[in-house]
Amino acid sequence: MDAIRIYGGKCLDGQTRIQGSKNASLPVLAATLLIKGTCEIENCPEISDVYHMLRLLESLGCKVTREGTLVRVNTEQVSECDMPADSVGVMRSSIMLLGALLARVGSVKMDYPGGCVIGARPINLHLQSLRNMGVAVEEGEGGFSACVNRLKGASHRLPFISVGVTENLILAAVLAEGTTVIEPAAGEPEIQTLCEFLQQAGAKIEGIGSDRLTIHGVERLFPVRFRIPADRIVAGTYLAACMCAGGRVFLQDTPRHHMESVLACAGQMGAKLKFEPDGMLVTCRTKPTGCESLVTGCYPAFPTDLQSLFMVVMSVSGRQGWIEETVFENRFRIVPELRKMGADITVYKNRAYVGGRGRLHGAVVQAEELRGGAALVAASLAAEGTSIVTNRHYIDRGYEDIVLSLRELGAEIELA
Ligand code: UD1
Repeated sequence: MDAIRIYGGKCLDGQTRIQGSKNASLPVLAATLLIKGTCEIENCPEISDVYHMLRLLESLGCKVTREGTLVRVNTEQVSECDMPADSVGVMRSSIMLLGALLARVGSVKMDYPGGCVIGARPINLHLQSLRNMGVAVEEGEGGFSACVNRLKGASHRLPFISVGVTENLILAAVLAEGTTVIEPAAGEPEIQTLCEFLQQAGAKIEGIGSDRLTIHGVERLFPVRFRIPADRIVAGTYLAACMCAGGRVFLQDTPRHHMESVLACAGQMGAKLKFEPDGMLVTCRTKPTGCESLVTGCYPAFPTDLQSLFMVVMSVSGRQGWIEETVFENRFRIVPELRKMGADITVYKNRAYVGGRGRLHGAVVQAEELRGGAALVAASLAAEGTSIVTNRHYIDRGYEDIVLSLRELGAEIELA
C-alpha cells in the first residue's frame, strides 16, 4: 500500500483545508529545546517529518504528547545522547537540532542528515558558521560531533542565502553570549515564524523578514503556546492540481500573503483567483495558458518547492516554455517519469525546456522525492486514463493525507 491510484481526466470540484506548515513546524519544534518547561504548538501537521522530529526530541529526553494537531513538548529533562540514526537519516531538518542542542547542552553527536534527494545538500556552511560562534566540530565517516561551553555571538557574512543555515544560527544565537548578525539572512515566511515564536518566548531579534537579522542573546526563554501558520507549499500544490485538472476548488486557510509570486504566476497562466476571508477560490475553466519562463529563487521569488508542480502545469498547457532552477541542482528528477506520461521535456544544465505537446496519458510512475511525488499526482489528475504513483511514503513526508484532500476536491483517487 505504498502507492496511489488516480483516475485522470476529470475536473475538480470541492473544498479542502490547508494543513499547518511543515517547514515552519520543524524549526519551531527544534526551538522548544531552548525553553525549559512545556511549550504547546498548535496546528502542527500530522506528517511523517513531524513524527520523526518528535521522535528525535523524545530520544533527547523531552516528553512529547500529541492530541491531533496540538503538540506539547516538555523539555525539563534534556540530556545529550545519540540520536536515532534512522530519523536523522531520513530528514534533513534534523540538522536544525544542532544549533538548539549546542545552546541547551553544549554537545552534539549525530549522523549526517538525510532528506529528499534533490541535490548534494551539504552541511558545510552550517558547521562553518557554528565554528564562528566558538563551536569545536570534529567530522568523521558517517557523522560528526560538536561541542562548546557557551555559544558566543558573532557576525556572519554568508556566501549565499540558506534557509537551514539561517534557522540554525538563529537557534544558536538566541541564548548566546552577546550579539549575532546574520547577513544575508533568508527571509522565507518560515523563518519569520520561527523568529515570532522565539520572540514570544522572550528572544530579542531585529530585522525579521529582512536580509539582515540581529539577535541579542538573552539569559533564558519562557514556555509559550504558539500556532503554526498554514502551509504555502501545500496550498500551491492544490492550486497547481486544479490548474492541471481544471475545475473549481476552495482552499480554506490559504496563506495568500506568503504566496505572491506563486499566485501571480498562476494568474498569468489563466487561473482565476478570488480571495475570501477564510480562503481562496480557484477557478480554471480552460486549459492553463502556460508561460514562457519560470525561474526559482529565494523568497519572495518563485519557490523551488513548487517548481515541479508548475512544470506539470506548463506541460499540460500546450505552450513551449522553460524553467530555471537556481536553488537545488537536482530538482528535475521527475522529468523521466513525466516523459512516461507523454510530457515533452528536455533538461540542459539547470534549465528544463517544456515542449508544446500539451497532453498527458496515464502511466505507472515512481515518486523519488516529496514535491516531485506530489507533482506526479497532479500530472495524473490531468492525464487521460489511470495512473499509479509509487513510493507514496515520500509524499507522506509533507502532506497529511493527499488522497483524502484530493478526494475532497473531487478527484477520483485511492490508495493502491
Ligand atoms: C529549506 C526547505 C526546503 C526548501 C529550501 C529552499 C525546510 C525543512 N526545507 O531547505 O523545502 O526547498 O529551504 O527554499 O525548511 N547549502 C550548502 N551548504 C550548506 C547548506 C546549504 O551548500 O551547509 C546549499 C544547498 O545545497 C542548496 C542551497 O544551499 O543548494 C540552499 O539550501 P537551503 O536554503 O539551506 O535549503 P534547506 O534549508 O535544506
